[in-house]
Amino acid sequence: MSLKGRNFVDLADFERFELRQVLDTAHDLKRKQKREEPHEVLKGKSLAMIFMKSSTRTRVSFEVGMTQLGGHALYLEPGGTQLGRGETIGDTAQVLSRYCDVIMARVYGHDEVVDLAKHASVPVINGLSDFLHPCQIMADMQTIEEHKGNLEGLKISYVGDSNNVSNSIMQGCTIMGMEVTIGSPKGYTPSDSIMKRATALSKRYKTKLKVVNDPVEAVKDADVIYTDTFFSMGQEKSKEKEDALMPFQVNKTLVEKAKSDVIVMHCLPAHRDEELTSEVMDGPHSVVFDQAENRLHAQKAILALIV
Ligand code: CP
Ligand code: NVA
Repeated sequence: MSLKGRNFVDLADFERFELRQVLDTAHDLKRKQKREEPHEVLKGKSLAMIFMKSSTRTRVSFEVGMTQLGGHALYLEPGGTQLGRGETIGDTAQVLSRYCDVIMARVYGHDEVVDLAKHASVPVINGLSDFLHPCQIMADMQTIEEHKGNLEGLKISYVGDSNNVSNSIMQGCTIMGMEVTIGSPKGYTPSDSIMKRATALSKRYKTKLKVVNDPVEAVKDADVIYTDTFFSMGQEKSKEKEDALMPFQVNKTLVEKAKSDVIVMHCLPAHRDEELTSEVMDGPHSVVFDQAENRLHAQKAILALIV
C-alpha cells in the first residue's frame, strides 16, 4: 500500500510497515545523495512551509530536501502571511492547496496542524507542535539504525522534561518495537493523553513502556539515552522547573550507568551544560549531529512517499 496523499501529523496514524517504508526510503535516499546519484522525484513540485515558531534544522532541511528532490520550497514566516492578521487556518489551507503540492507547518497548539490537515486538499506534514514532533523521531530512528543496525528490542531512555519530542518517541519507537523508558521528575511526566495513546501502542506491539522518576533507574541497560531542553518553545522559564530537572542532566556519570556502547541523542538546539553537558555532547557516545543530518534524509523520504 502506498503512502501517497497521506498526512504526516502523528506517528500513531501509521502502521509499523509504513514507518519501515519511510526508514528504508530514508536510508536509500541518503546513499543516493552521498553517491551523487540523481533522485529528482519531485520535479516541479512545491512545498509551502508555515513557521509559527523559530527553526534552524527543520527549515533548512526541508528547503534543501525539496531542492535535492527537484522541487521547490517556500518559507512563510510567522508575521509574513495573512494568518498573522486573522485569516483562518482552514482558509489558508484551502488557498495553499491551490498552489502547492504539500504543506509543512510548525505550530503551537497541535489542533492547529490537525485543522490545517482537515482543510487542505494536499498532504500536510507536522514540523513540530506543542504535542508532537514526528519528523524528528523518524530522523532519530534512522540514526539509531545506522549506529545499532536495528531498532526492535533496543531500549531507549528519554530523560528530562516530557514534551513533544518524548511524546513522539513514546509513539514512534514503540511502533517500531523498541523498549521505551521515560525518566522525568514528578510534575514533568508524560500527560495522561499521551500515556493512553502510547500504552495502547505498546500493548498492540507487545513492547515495554515505563515512566520512572529516577534518572539512574531510567538509563539502566539503555542502548540509547535521549534528552531535550528543559523549556520548550513557548514555555515560560522557571527556577522551580530547572531545579526539578537538573538531577536529570545527561552527564558522564549518568551515561556510565547505561550500557557501555550507549549512544546519546538530542534533537537540538541543546542548552549546553543544562540538560546535556558539553563533555557528553562532544564525546564518543554522542550522535547528535548525525541526528541533525538525518532530518534531511528522513524528511526527503516522507516527502517522496506522500507527495
Ligand atoms: N530539532 C529541531 O526541530 O530543530 P529546529 O528547531 O532548529 O528546527
Ligand atoms: N521540545 C523542543 C524541541 C525543539 C526542536 C521545543 O518544542 O522547543
